[in-house]
Amino acid sequence: MHFPMLFSPIRIGSLTVKNRIAMPSMGLMYTHDGRMNERFRHFYFERARGGAGLLITGPYAVDKAGGGPVLLGLDEDKFVPDLKEFNREIHAISDAKIACQLFHSGRYSLSFMTGEQCVSASAIPSKLTGETPRALTIEEIEELVGKFASAAVRAREAGFDAVEVLACTGYLLSQFLSPITNIRTDRYGGSLENRMRFPLEVVTAVRRAVGKDFPLLVRVAGNDFMPESHTNREARLFCKALEQAGVDAINVTGGWHETRVPQLTYAVPPGAFVYLARGIKEAVGIPVLASNRLGWPPLAEKTLREGCADMICMGRPLIADPYLPQKALEGRLEDIVPCMGCNEVCFDHVFMGQPVGCMLNPMAGREGEIKLLAAAKPKKVLVAGAGPAGLMAALTAARRGHHVVLFEAAHSPGGQVLLGAATPDKADFARIVDALVRQARSAGVTIRTGVTVDSDLVEAENPDVVVVATGAKPAPAPFPGADHPKVRLAWDILSGRAFVEGKRVVVVGGSATGCETALKIAQEGTLDPETLAFLFLHQAEDVETLRDMATRGTREVTVVDLLPRLASNMARTTRWVLLKDLKTYHVRMVTDAKVTAVTDRGVEIERNGQPEILEADTVVLATGARPCNDLYDTLQAAGRNVLLVGDAKQPRRIVEAIQEGFAAGLEI
Ligand SMILES: Cc1cc2nc3c(=O)[nH]c(=O)nc-3n(C[C@H](O)[C@H](O)[C@H](O)COP(=O)(O)OP(=O)(O)OC[C@H]3O[C@@H](n4cnc5c(N)ncnc54)[C@H](O)[C@@H]3O)c2cc1C
Ligand SMILES: Cc1cc2nc3c(=O)[nH]c(=O)nc-3n(C[C@H](O)[C@H](O)[C@H](O)COP(=O)(O)O)c2cc1C
Ligand code: SF4
Repeated sequence: MHFPMLFSPIRIGSLTVKNRIAMPSMGLMYTHDGRMNERFRHFYFERARGGAGLLITGPYAVDKAGGGPVLLGLDEDKFVPDLKEFNREIHAISDAKIACQLFHSGRYSLSFMTGEQCVSASAIPSKLTGETPRALTIEEIEELVGKFASAAVRAREAGFDAVEVLACTGYLLSQFLSPITNIRTDRYGGSLENRMRFPLEVVTAVRRAVGKDFPLLVRVAGNDFMPESHTNREARLFCKALEQAGVDAINVTGGWHETRVPQLTYAVPPGAFVYLARGIKEAVGIPVLASNRLGWPPLAEKTLREGCADMICMGRPLIADPYLPQKALEGRLEDIVPCMGCNEVCFDHVFMGQPVGCMLNPMAGREGEIKLLAAAKPKKVLVAGAGPAGLMAALTAARRGHHVVLFEAAHSPGGQVLLGAATPDKADFARIVDALVRQARSAGVTIRTGVTVDSDLVEAENPDVVVVATGAKPAPAPFPGADHPKVRLAWDILSGRAFVEGKRVVVVGGSATGCETALKIAQEGTLDPETLAFLFLHQAEDVETLRDMATRGTREVTVVDLLPRLASNMARTTRWVLLKDLKTYHVRMVTDAKVTAVTDRGVEIERNGQPEILEADTVVLATGARPCNDLYDTLQAAGRNVLLVGDAKQPRRIVEAIQEGFAAGLEI
C-alpha cells in the first residue's frame, strides 16, 4: 500500500476514521441565509467521494453576533433538517466521517453583517476589521457557553459524527485566552487559568450536552504569532486542560488573522508549522492534527511517521483536487492537481465576500452545476499556445472526446507560469504546468512544442475549431530610453535570457511582476537556506550577522511606480507578504513617481512636480503586458471557427486563463 501511515485508520474518542486525512473547516461563502444548500452539498459530496477520512465542515455560527448570514447556522433548530439530509447523503456516498466546527468570531465580526456591535473579552479594537467590540458581561458569557452546548446538541441531532470547537485564529475563544485581547479583572481575565476559563467552560458544557461518547475536537493555535500573546508553551498548557475536560482530539493550526508571520501563502514552506503540532503532541495523549501546507502526501506520511502528529489537515489541497486522497492511495502522485498556496480564489475570496473556488480547479464550488458531457460529434480541435489557457482548453476538449492537437511556439509548455515560477517562493508554480501537461496527454491531447501557429499551419491542419491561447508579451515602455543598453526586460531576467550587471538596479513598474522581480534581484548574493542552517547550527556567526547575510544581497535595488501603492494588482492575503519581503531585503520603494526617461545615469523621474534621478547600472522594465491576438484576428477574418482565451484576450491571471480555457473546452 502507498503511504501506509496516512491510510491507516485512527480513533477519535468513539469514532473510527478510515484514514488520517482530514479536510479542515473552511468558510466557503456559499450561503446568504445560514442554510445548507446545493452548492455546499455538491462541494462536500465530491470531497467525500475523493477519499478523505474526515470532513470538518463549517464554520457554523452558534449565535447571530458571532456569525452573520454568510456562515452556516447552528444557532436555531430550523437549520437541523437540511443538515440531517446532508449528513445522510454524505454517509450514503462514502464512509468518510463528517464533523462540524462551532464558531464565534467575537471581535472579528462585522457589524454591517450581523447588525450589532461585536463582542469580545475586552473592548480592544481589531486591526483586521477596524471595529471596537463591547466586553461581554458575566451573564452573557454564561449564555454563550449555553449556546455552544445547544449548537453541539443540534449537530448531534443532525447526524454529524463529531463536533469541533474553534479556539484559535484570533476568534472569540482565542480573544479570551490571549492577554492582548483579554484585560478583564474578573474571573475570566488575569492569570492564564482565568483566561482559559471561558473556553474550558464551553468545552465542558459541550461535553456534558452531547454525552461522553460523542467525539469532540478543539482547534487551537499552536502559536498565536502575535507579540505578547501565546506561544506553543501556553498552548500546551491549554491543550492539557482541554484533554482533562474530555476533549478527544486537538487540531493544531497557526496564528491569528492579524499576525505578521505568513500562515497560508506560498511563502510558507510546506510543513513549516508541523513543529507546533509536535509541541502539543508532546503534552497530550489524545490524537493531534497538524495543519497548513501539508497537502503533499509524502510530506504528510513523513509527518505521521516521525511522530509529529496523528492526522493531517488538507484544506486548500482538497479544494484544488478533491481526489487527492484516492490518487495518493493508488500511488498516482503525478495526477494530483497541486494547490499552490496562492489564496487567489479561496482565502482572498473570503475577504472579498465572494464564493470560494480555485485558481487551478474550475469545478471547485460548481460541482453540482457543471457536467463534462461527451461531445455529440467529435471534432478536430487545434489549440495555439500551451500556457494554462491552452492546456486547459485542450484537456477539457479531449476529455469530452474531441481530437486535439496543441501547438506551442516555445520549446516547453507553460507560458508565463514558468516566469512566475522563477520568482521567489513560487517555484512550485511549475507543478501546475506538469500536472496540466500530464492530464492533457493522458486525455489524448497531442502536444507539439517548438511550433508557431500561423494561418498556413491552420490551413494545412484544417481543424473544425481553433482555440487561440497565445497569451501576452511585455508592453513597450512609454518613455524615451527604453532601448538603452543598460535596459533589460523583467521577463528576460526571469527566464534567464538576460541578467543584471552592476550594483545599482532600478526596476521600473511596481505591479506584482515588478515587485517580484525586484525581490529576486535583491536576493542575489544572500545566503541560501542550507548554508544559513549550516552556519547557524555550527554557531559560525552570531544571529544578527546571519540575519544580515541572509537579507542583504549584492545589489542595491529600487522599484519605482506611478501609483501610490506597489503590487496593487495583488490580493490582500499575499500582497502584504511581498511588501514585507521587499522591506526585509532592503529594496527601496519609490511611489507616485512618473518615469520620464532612461539615460546613461539611470532613470529620470518626476515626483511631486520635481525631477529626480535614480542612478542605475541596470534598469529592469516591468511595464505591463499586452495581448498576442494577431493570430485570432487573422483566422477570424479568414472565416475560421475560432475561440480566444486567456491573456490573448486581455492580460490577467492564471485563474481567468484556466476558466476561459475550460469554458472553451466545454463549448466546442
Ligand atoms: C512574472 C510573472 C508572475 C506571474 N504570477 C502570477 C500569479 O502569481 N498568479 C496569477 O494568477 N498569474 C500570474 N501571472 C500571470 C499568468 O502567468 C498569466 O495570466 C497566464 O499565464 C496567462 O495564461 P495564458 O495561457 O493565457 O497565456 P501564457 O501563459 O502567456 O501562454 C501563452 C503561450 O502561447 C505561446 N504562443 C504564443 N503565440 C503562439 C503561436 N502563434 N503559436 C504557438 N504558441 C504560441 C507562448 O509561447 C506561450 O507559451 C504572472 C505572470 C508573470 C509574467
Ligand atoms: C477559504 C478558507 C476559509 C477558511 N476558514 C476557516 C474557518 O472557518 N475555520 C478554521 O478553523 N479555519 C479556516 N481556514 C483555515 C483552514 O482550515 C486551514 O487551516 C488552512 O487553509 C491551512 O491549511 P491548508 O494549507 O491545508 O489549506 C480557512 C482557510 C481558507 C483557505
Ligand atoms: S486558489 Fe490557490 S491556494 Fe486556493 S486552493 Fe486553489 S491553488 Fe490552492
